Amino acid sequence: MPTDDNHVVVRRARERLFSVEYGKIIRARATACMRALRERRDGDGVVVDDDVDDKRGRILRGKMRDLLDALKKWSELVERLEGEFARANDVNDDGVSSALLDSVRDSLEEFETFLDEDGILDDLPRSVLGDARVDRDVGRDVPATIDLVRRVCPDATMERADRLDEITDELSRKELDLEWRARVSRDMKRASNDVGYTAENFSYGSTPYSSWVELFKGCDRLRSKMEEISDASSSQSYVVWGSSVGWLVFYGALTYERARCKGVEILPELHDTAVRLQREYMAKTGSSERVTFLCGDMLTSSLDNAGVVFLTSVCWDESVHRAAAEKLANELSVGALVIDYSDKLSEFQEFGKLHIHRTQLPVSWNPNQSFYVFEKVA
Ligand SMILES: C[S@@+](CC[C@H](N)C(=O)[O-])C[C@H]1O[C@@H](n2cnc3c(N)ncnc32)[C@H](O)[C@@H]1O
Repeated sequence: MPTDDNHVVVRRARERLFSVEYGKIIRARATACMRALRERRDGDGVVVDDDVDDKRGRILRGKMRDLLDALKKWSELVERLEGEFARANDVNDDGVSSALLDSVRDSLEEFETFLDEDGILDDLPRSVLGDARVDRDVGRDVPATIDLVRRVCPDATMERADRLDEITDELSRKELDLEWRARVSRDMKRASNDVGYTAENFSYGSTPYSSWVELFKGCDRLRSKMEEISDASSSQSYVVWGSSVGWLVFYGALTYERARCKGVEILPELHDTAVRLQREYMAKTGSSERVTFLCGDMLTSSLDNAGVVFLTSVCWDESVHRAAAEKLANELSVGALVIDYSDKLSEFQEFGKLHIHRTQLPVSWNPNQSFYVFEKVA
């Protein structure tokens, strides 16, 4: 019989492997090159010197070859690791854990070194790429940000959607900055040594805004709570534990204009990135002071009258997840809501032993990630 522990390790290893969607990113870049080549062939209405055009074609074809080569490498890597995952799921003894996680870590490091050294993700100059946009959502029907914001806040202004676009574009660029990723990786090892959690406890991942909106749109209680928090006289806040570079905090702050929002993240590089973005983009909205980022351990942080707490618990160690749940059971006010990726809070009387909402939505590491919402009842 395969052990439950092995299933947990395999899930974590897979989450780690897909924390950045390299397949999708590389494919989108190759598609943009192909579009630029097609435009060039069909004529884009701009009269250019033949030599210049030939050079542009050569660069595009070269880049396209590199990207397809990288895509092949990525597919082989995924196939090999999926084989390892399947074998680990089938064995009936414990102990696959560190070997499997090491294998994912080493393979990713090797692949990222290749991306870096060969400049695979380096942007092409606009003069070469022309108007062919690099769209990570090519082939998917993704609504405009303003339409997404208005699904939960019908009176939202265009300015909020523009700010969200600026911030998410900048964060997506960061994900591809391999030096930045190396610094995050160093932080993970350091934090793991300092506080004793496993390195996987700090795994990176991101949630698209469309999923965040679907979660709130599908749960009336979440929306009405956020509206309550947005009231000028309210002292409640929306809090993200494990806020990473701030994605989920910025979503809350820019969707609900007056809501007080707070993110707690233990890794300094991720925290610093969030703060820099807040300074650069939120200051323009004049509402930056509503947003707070704290660098530290959520298990010792203050809950500050939280009305909604988002637990980004997907890769947390079991002991960290349990301690977070116990802290919420002891300290959270009655009526507050908690969003979690698992059903863990149903073990607690304080949360009525039952979630009030459940859905599945895409995130960077899983196209069908479960989300549970609980209410503190006692
Ligand atoms: C899955 S990631 C965050 C996902 C992301 N915010 C998203 O958009 O889905 C989980 C985060 O929790 C952080 N974390 C883990 N243990 C923590 C702790 N004790 N205190 C604060 N943050 C912690 C990790 O460093 C990591 O950035």
